[in-house]
Amino acid sequence: MGNIDKDSKKDYKKAIEELSLMLMYLTRTQDQNEYCKYRELSWKGYDFQMLEALEEDQMIIQPRSRRGYDQYLYLTEQGRNRAQALLEEYGLCDKDLNERFEFRNIRSEEAEQAAEIEQICFPPNEACAKSTMIERAAVAPDLFLVAVDRETGKLAGFLNGIATDEYLFRDEFFTDAGLHDLAGNNVMLLGLDVLPEYRRQGLAREIVFRYLRREQARGRKKVTLTCLESKVKMYTKMGFCDRGISGSAWGGEQWHEMDCTLNI
Ligand SMILES: CC(C)(COP(=O)(O)OP(=O)(O)OC[C@H]1O[C@@H](n2cnc3c(N)ncnc32)[C@H](O)[C@@H]1OP(=O)(O)O)[C@@H](O)C(=O)NCCC(=O)NCCS
Repeated sequence: MGNIDKDSKKDYKKAIEELSLMLMYLTRTQDQNEYCKYRELSWKGYDFQMLEALEEDQMIIQPRSRRGYDQYLYLTEQGRNRAQALLEEYGLCDKDLNERFEFRNIRSEEAEQAAEIEQICFPPNEACAKSTMIERAAVAPDLFLVAVDRETGKLAGFLNGIATDEYLFRDEFFTDAGLHDLAGNNVMLLGLDVLPEYRRQGLAREIVFRYLRREQARGRKKVTLTCLESKVKMYTKMGFCDRGISGSAWGGEQWHEMDCTLNI
């Protein structure tokens, strides 16, 4: 244990706080609460004072029932980011998907790649045209979340949408990115794509959860999408409620309208 630089050592309290935050993050599981399925919870067997300090720093939320604190906590978006940064700093592994993929906003030079993926993922009558995809990425990059394979630097999947104060889905959202209103209360989702070679590994779920968490943190009220009957179960598992047959006639198909409430 020869040359430990005393000045660079964390103090005891800080070490416990950081290690606990990382443990909360690594052991988080999915919340089954009907209204916040997109959130993940962590059981709390930690020092109470340290939990208070983390809550004060807005890293975690500790739900309280009438009888006092519940036995679990939620990590905030800030808490997740901090835990991820700490894992890197400590040289520790994250969950597989976070190691393999970078999740971030699309860059303008990636819009054509996204349009090609869209052609692979959807039949011609449903796929978004290349010019529209390029416009969408330029107008609403904040609402265009991509998963980049860190090994190849290429997109593996994405989820895009636009914001609006409207409540009901209409097909013009698919073709006119000019309807995007950055300050809008609601988000209309327009495309969830994962390339075939990356499917069935939980990537779509991770992209959707991240998207919802981010929009919730931005104060958005509701996220709406349309999907074919065959995808209703998938989106239900991701926290969306089926509102029945939508008015959309996109691609000559019948669509279900589904939504997820983020803030009341
Ligand atoms: C649908 C799609 C995005 C799923 O991507 P993925 O990364 O394989 O999905 P995940 O691995 O995260 O799976 C999440 C859940 O959805 C379910 N699911 C995945 N693909 C599905 C499919 N094609 N049909 C129905 N359910 C599906 C899974 O069973 C999984 O639930 P489970 O973990 O309880 O088994 C991908 O297959 C795709 O891009 N398809 C073509 C485009 C498309 O249909 N997009 C959605 C349009 S609304």
